[in-house]
Amino acid sequence: MSHWGATADASARRTPRSAGVGLRLSHLAEVVATRPPAAWFEIHPENFLANPHAGELLQEVAQHYPISVHTVGISIGSVEGIDRAHLARLRSLVDALDPVLVSGHLAWSTHEGAYLNDLLPLPFDDETLAVVVAHLTEVQEGLGRRYLVENPSSYVGFGSSTMTEAEFLCELVRRTGCSLLCDVSNVYLSARNMGYDPYRYIDALPIDAVHELHLGGFTSEPDEATPGGEVLIDTHSVGVAGPVWELYAYALRRFGRQPTLIEWDNDIPPFATLAAEATRAEEVASMTQKEARALAG
Ligand SMILES: [Fe+2]
Repeated sequence: MSHWGATADASARRTPRSAGVGLRLSHLAEVVATRPPAAWFEIHPENFLANPHAGELLQEVAQHYPISVHTVGISIGSVEGIDRAHLARLRSLVDALDPVLVSGHLAWSTHEGAYLNDLLPLPFDDETLAVVVAHLTEVQEGLGRRYLVENPSSYVGFGSSTMTEAEFLCELVRRTGCSLLCDVSNVYLSARNMGYDPYRYIDALPIDAVHELHLGGFTSEPDEATPGGEVLIDTHSVGVAGPVWELYAYALRRFGRQPTLIEWDNDIPPFATLAAEATRAEEVASMTQKEARALAG
């Protein structure tokens, strides 16, 4: 087991167990100028590392709101290893912001030194597990913090996989002491695309390891491989779908109230729309807690 307990406990005390919003560059100036009500913000560090002006504004935001750092450039699944220069840049930003959470995807997105736009899937077998464990250990050591690993959105599986995605994540937690970020929309989308039960997936994740939830919108496209079929694409371009809100309530019942992020990355609407989605997440969480209390007694 890891030595990340103390850091994680300190972060957990500071992390609002409420709904935050993904802070995108298009809303940055507005947030600095108007300081809208928001429980916390999650940022993609890659948007700020290459943009000094945005970085200064972010420091200002961090004076007033808890910040979570969600990297899309640390590729824990890439065979060629972690980009140490990027990890060092990320460490500097993390030290400057002192975020409540630091997270990234279970995926690979670099190949031969080039960053790919997509977060690409991995086969779930012992060989991949050893690679990801080594990389995750390096990332946690490099950042001096516990890292939260997010379940990916999936469209195809590997015939060579010898364990399920949930089993793979459980092993990562056991071997590295990492936490999990459960993207509820990704669970629903992947389950629909791959033909498994999203509720059983939630049941299979270790309760004590899940310290953040994500909610985002997806779109449906015709599945060219199956006449009349559809494939759900993780576009983050629309609001959260009805069945995902139901799965979110189920996840809250299992994991307890957790920091929940509204993600919207394309066709980004006015900030008020994101805030309204966060309010809805709060309402679902409050209702779920009330139901649990009523059942208990
Ligand atoms: Fe996500």
